[in-house]
Amino acid sequence: MVKSAETLERLFVESRPKSAALFESGKDVMPGGGMKSLGYSPPLYIERAEDCYLYDIDGYRYVDWINNACTLVLGHSPTGVVNALTDIVQNGIVFGAPNTYEKPIAEHICQRISSIEKVRFTNSGTEAVMNALRLARAYTGKPKIAKFEGGFHGTTDDAEISIAPPLDEAGSDEAPNAVAEYKGINQGTIDNIVVMPYNDSEAVDLILTENQEEIAAVIYDPKSGNYEIPHEFLRFVVDKCKELGILFIMDEVKSLRVSYGGFQELAGVDPDITTLGKLVGGGMPVGAFGGKSHIMDMMSGAGGISSGGTYSGNPMTLAAGLAHMEEATPEVYEHLKALGERLRQGLEDVFTRSNVAARVVYTENIMSAHMTADPVRNYRDIVKFDRDMRRRLMLGMFLEGHYARELQEMTTSAPMTNETVDDFLASLEKVLNDKE
Ligand SMILES: Cc1ncc(COP(=O)(O)O)c(C=O)c1O
Repeated sequence: MVKSAETLERLFVESRPKSAALFESGKDVMPGGGMKSLGYSPPLYIERAEDCYLYDIDGYRYVDWINNACTLVLGHSPTGVVNALTDIVQNGIVFGAPNTYEKPIAEHICQRISSIEKVRFTNSGTEAVMNALRLARAYTGKPKIAKFEGGFHGTTDDAEISIAPPLDEAGSDEAPNAVAEYKGINQGTIDNIVVMPYNDSEAVDLILTENQEEIAAVIYDPKSGNYEIPHEFLRFVVDKCKELGILFIMDEVKSLRVSYGGFQELAGVDPDITTLGKLVGGGMPVGAFGGKSHIMDMMSGAGGISSGGTYSGNPMTLAAGLAHMEEATPEVYEHLKALGERLRQGLEDVFTRSNVAARVVYTENIMSAHMTADPVRNYRDIVKFDRDMRRRLMLGMFLEGHYARELQEMTTSAPMTNETVDDFLASLEKVLNDKE
């Protein structure tokens, strides 16, 4: 059986004194001690990364299964991205004027993602979502946005509704309440968000039909490698939006990594607007939103709506992003998928052999091991699980040299091999069967 949380925490803190000290001293100048809220404390401070490895300040090496929240398909510092960034650094970094890096990456995105005819760049996925929602409201003249309970779309106020609401405030399963994730979000914002349950077509039909005159768009997070949602459900939502005159926004900020043409390619849907981020910047801060020309053309200046920003479309991001995307070819995706399949199968075998109830949810190259034997179809299924076990596995795997936070949204990357996966599985089996 896995060691207790107390034992693992003690072993972790004792063996990583520099990380623990840096976290303590950071509290003097940063609320909470640092910038990342990772769900474990003290956090690991990373000083360097290479290929599929992270190196912390206490001298330990970890296989990186998180890849900057699913960003890095090619692992750390791929040559093409490094060369592109080096060239820019030597050429002035940022110009505050149109630059020659814009059109090539825009063309690449339009060719790669079939629903996107025109695209605009931002500095984060959050900003991409913010602009896409405003565009949908401007285009339709309607005030409300519908999202799914448990769906994550970044940190703009509109998006921070019903991500992980307390169940006693969340309302019924079929018609969830809109619950602000944090204090400070205006009631007007909350009133303009309609929340729907994943995997319940009947409820979605009812909610969208009842509110069709007011809903500008549905925004959809596919919860890749996290919830079990059949493609039929997504196709139902898209068809319903078309039928009711509601725009459909596919949030591919994370899920562009599951397939060369994004999740929409896997599911066979044609969104009106798509939001992007992460992979599209090759490790630099980025967001983008794109879609059909007749909608995107509103952003041209004449449509009464625009987007901009000091760093939007800056050369470093665009050059790194294009290099990253060009190197992330369909062949690379095949490699990631083959490793993902090996990892999924191996995880199921290890949990079965170790007699631990777990459900591995998997989309090509992202996967989560949920500590339950039951299906994971929506947010309310997720909140029931054993958090203590997740935490113990995370700490146990850190100690074994694997950065795989709570075994949630683990990703494969190009530098990994079958041996990397097999080493992870052997470590997990050891952690699951360790004596106190
Ligand atoms: C689906 C989705 N949308 C939007 C965002 C926000 O992106 P960013 O963190 O770049 O603001 C994220 C971030 O994880 C995401 O997963």
